[in-house]
Amino acid sequence: MSFPNWFEVTAKDNFNEYLLKYKGEPGVKMLQLGSFAGDASAWLLENILIGENSHLDDVDLLIENFELRHFNFDWEQVRATYLSKTKQYSNVTFHNETTINFLKKAPNDYYDFIYVDASHDAVDVLIDGELSWMSLKVGGIIAFDDYTWGVEDFNNLRTPKRGVETFHQRRHNKLTLINKPTNQIWLKKESN
Ligand SMILES: C[S@@+](CC[C@H](N)C(=O)[O-])C[C@H]1O[C@@H](n2cnc3c(N)ncnc32)[C@H](O)[C@@H]1O
Repeated sequence: MSFPNWFEVTAKDNFNEYLLKYKGEPGVKMLQLGSFAGDASAWLLENILIGENSHLDDVDLLIENFELRHFNFDWEQVRATYLSKTKQYSNVTFHNETTINFLKKAPNDYYDFIYVDASHDAVDVLIDGELSWMSLKVGGIIAFDDYTWGVEDFNNLRTPKRGVETFHQRRHNKLTLINKPTNQIWLKKESN
């Protein structure tokens, strides 16, 4: 069974451009919030996280729920697809829980890259960004997907934009914008 490959459509070019510097480096730690069928995971594991002790943490609930909006997926098949794409790699850990639960336990100053692509509700995106902050190393990168999705209605709290902008605004003096924001926004953490 095949599922939408959102990674290919909206993210791959940015991953190629901004994560290449980590390729083959030892000890690189990455976190993906919302791993779905494993397209971004497989690409990261194949192309970037090939250095010694490099590791990917993937977090996904993999069940149908209100915030997901994807009501037609067979989530057991999504899970099977994720596992088939990642099973050949020993340096990935799948965390089958909510992003909030995971982030509450995540270590400080740990990740070089955090990809925020789980719930797309503005408040959830803001919470995921805020809880990620202390886990992201100074010098690390945080990227948000679907920044411009549904922007025609700024009052729509069911899209990421207001969450991303609140996060960025709140920490603007501690972050550098590293891309021209399109469907994604990529930010580098300059200080705690
Ligand atoms: C857009 S998809 C992720 C796509 C993936 N990053 C990629 O590039 O292939 C969003 C995923 O986030 C998960 N998700 C949504 N809300 C979540 C939450 N609160 N906690 C954990 N996972 C969540 C969904 O189950 C879904 O698989």
